[in-house]
Amino acid sequence: MTERIPLLQVENLVITTTGPDGEPVRLIDGISFEVQEGEVLGIVGESGSGKSLTVLAVMGLLPVGLDIAEGSIRWRGKDLVGLRDRELRQMRGNDFGMIFQDPMTALNPLRRVGAQLAEAVRLHQNVTRGQARERAHELLRSVGVPEPEKRAKAYPHEWSGGMRQRAVIAMAMANDPALLIADEPTTALDVTVQAQVMRTLAAAREELSSALILITHDLALAAQNASRMIIMYSGRIVEAGTTREIFLHPTHPYTQGLLKSLISEGDERAYAIPGNPPLPRLRPVGCAFAARCELAKGRSVCTDVRPELELRPNGSYSACHFADELDAGRAPTTGGISHV
Ligand SMILES: Nc1ncnc2c1ncn2[C@@H]1O[C@H](COP(=O)(O)OP(=O)(O)O)[C@@H](O)[C@H]1O
Ligand SMILES: [Mg+2]
Repeated sequence: MTERIPLLQVENLVITTTGPDGEPVRLIDGISFEVQEGEVLGIVGESGSGKSLTVLAVMGLLPVGLDIAEGSIRWRGKDLVGLRDRELRQMRGNDFGMIFQDPMTALNPLRRVGAQLAEAVRLHQNVTRGQARERAHELLRSVGVPEPEKRAKAYPHEWSGGMRQRAVIAMAMANDPALLIADEPTTALDVTVQAQVMRTLAAAREELSSALILITHDLALAAQNASRMIIMYSGRIVEAGTTREIFLHPTHPYTQGLLKSLISEGDERAYAIPGNPPLPRLRPVGCAFAARCELAKGRSVCTDVRPELELRPNGSYSACHFADELDAGRAPTTGGISHV
């Protein structure tokens, strides 16, 4: 437990939609996590695990038809759940800066990049047009756009993908937010520019001394950038801890599987976790990972009882009935990761 009030504190968040039979379906099934001032938290998991919905809920931007059914989202101690749209919109620009996967969704194709940036500045700051334009150029310069005065006059389609994502990072920085949220910020980009964009993002965070939530399906990317991470699976958190402990002592079979696939990447017989996650409405009563887990074979507790996220002796949290065995190395479920 920490004495400081966290910047962001999500507690038992449940997000539901309505299923085909009219019953509520839990897309996010009771997750809790915190982000401290200035820290980088990674949210890692396969596609569909609930990463985006989690941060959309934080931003107050859940798609129509999805509801926060339970839980709280505290920003500097204040609960955002139930706040009116107007209040949330105000906060969104001032306190959070969001960077989406596809820069084209964040940029208006019909407006010049500089003008969009200046508008983002003016939305929340009482400055003249001229000052906003200056600030826009300054922001573009700080994300490494060369000749910003000239480039600002271009339209988004005249920029490369990497440059566009830099513009989106600049936009997210416009009002010195205390928290940046980046949802798969490099997934839509060429491999060669991914590293540049990540460096830009890291520099932006440094300049603002802001916290960062980095969402990615790529465990390596999270490890390079985040000091702490949560691993999501089927709308739940299955493991949480420092990056170091997650790599050295993973205590959930899913995390072990992710590590094993990471290590074997590029090998002839690269490892992939077999099977697929369950659809939220077909999530089993027990462990959602059981059907894909070696360790769960023949163990009824895995199929019958939902494992809770529990604190481990190493400070990580794991939601596995057999975390003790994994910890002691007595259950090398996925094998071959002892050389991590
Ligand atoms: N608007 C929506 N309506 C119904 N289900 C949705 C909607 N958006 C996402 N989902 C479902 O919620 C789950 C989590 O989605 P998401 O947060 O987008 O996952 P991730 O970002 O980890 O890939 C998935 O099963 C997805 O199909
Ligand atoms: Mg997503």
